[in-house]
Amino acid sequence: MAIYALAELEPSIHPDAYVHPDATVIGDVRIAAEASVWPGTVLRGDNGYIELGPRSNVQDGCVLHCTQRHPTILGANSAIGHSVHVEGATIGTGCLIASGSVVLNGTVVEDGGMVGAGAVLSYDSRVPSGHIALGVPARTRPNTAFGPEQIAAVVDGYVARAKRFRAELRRLD
Ligand SMILES: CC(C)(COP(=O)(O)OP(=O)(O)OC[C@H]1O[C@@H](n2cnc3c(N)ncnc32)[C@H](O)[C@@H]1OP(=O)(O)O)[C@@H](O)C(=O)NCCC(=O)NCCS
Repeated sequence: MAIYALAELEPSIHPDAYVHPDATVIGDVRIAAEASVWPGTVLRGDNGYIELGPRSNVQDGCVLHCTQRHPTILGANSAIGHSVHVEGATIGTGCLIASGSVVLNGTVVEDGGMVGAGAVLSYDSRVPSGHIALGVPARTRPNTAFGPEQIAAVVDGYVARAKRFRAELRRLD
């Protein structure tokens, strides 16, 4: 597993979290219980910190970084889909940041907010609760496309999948 300290900056990973062996975790990264981090994802806490809340997931091929001014914080029960880049943003509880999106410095996604697939949120954007940001550059509107119960289903699925991987994943090469 690629988990690195950088001088005094050391990851803190709850024993009930799941970090896939092909994820890379560096420096001040705090991962709570039942959170999961999937293959090819890089969490680099070298300049500020990254925090993943309980039961949250960061799916395959994501890049999460932070700045001294803006840590990257993901609340409880939130999901970051495949191939997402988050740089110094705060994402609340029960949020979904969908595949291929880019969420930049100082952005806040409030509890229950969503970022649609492929959206780009520039500096200091805000997604209010119950809203979705779509497009490039992203525009925000009430979310009638993907409800809180669908976000919860994604989150539950990843909590269960992490348990399965912990028990059943075998490397064959
Ligand atoms: C946002 C999302 C849910 C939209 O789903 P949808 O069923 O196509 O939504 P709608 O049919 O209500 O589309 C409404 C409008 O938004 C547009 N739209 C849909 N998805 C869009 C996107 N990602 N970016 C920009 N515009 C989008 C549609 O073209 C449509 O435009 P119109 O009103 O001008 O015709 C989908 O694009 C998405 O991001 N899904 C996330 C899936 C995911 O990440 N799942 C979890 C991974 S495990």
